[in-house]
Amino acid sequence: MNATDIKAARAAKVSATVERIRAIEAAEGVTPASLSKFREELMALAAQEHLFPAGEFPPPANGEKGSNRYLMQMDEGGTFALYLNALNPGNETKPHDHTTWAVVVAVDGQELNKVYRRTDDGTDPERCALVVDHEVMVEPGRGIAFMPDAIHSIHTTGAVPTRHLHMYGLSLEQLDGRKAYMADTGEIVPYNKNFMKATQQAKA
Ligand SMILES: [Fe+2]
Repeated sequence: MNATDIKAARAAKVSATVERIRAIEAAEGVTPASLSKFREELMALAAQEHLFPAGEFPPPANGEKGSNRYLMQMDEGGTFALYLNALNPGNETKPHDHTTWAVVVAVDGQELNKVYRRTDDGTDPERCALVVDHEVMVEPGRGIAFMPDAIHSIHTTGAVPTRHLHMYGLSLEQLDGRKAYMADTGEIVPYNKNFMKATQQAKA
């Protein structure tokens, strides 16, 4: 397949996958059970690695921190927003929420997800207590799904860059109420969508 054919095949497969996910959502709403079905649909898409060539979706140049995010498709109004994220090994985020549902699956590369549980009562908007509830290595054949209030951090611990499909109930550009949960200090602070880059710059 040449590049034009790959683009066309990708657009068709992405569109058909999102259409099935829309139908599941319409029938069942957003629940842990329906999100599992979204995840299965996206894993079947991600398994077609030839549709997402490494050369077309590179991570930041020279092994730099942060992510390159490629929009695959989103509905009018920003719903059902599907991206491909490419990160180099060695990245990590603070624990954060999404305020919408989220599903992450892998075309290539590994991303360790730490999923947290709050041990406080959640009533203080500025303070929290967190523990790691469980960990999931997102890699080819294994994905993860989150309800809107879930808290996770990601750690690209693998040896090769990631190409992961991330789907959200609403586009990241429209999510302005996200929070980061500082597990060490207990602070809750706004989660900037460039938090990874900002964190790296602050350290530099
Ligand atoms: Fe996230």
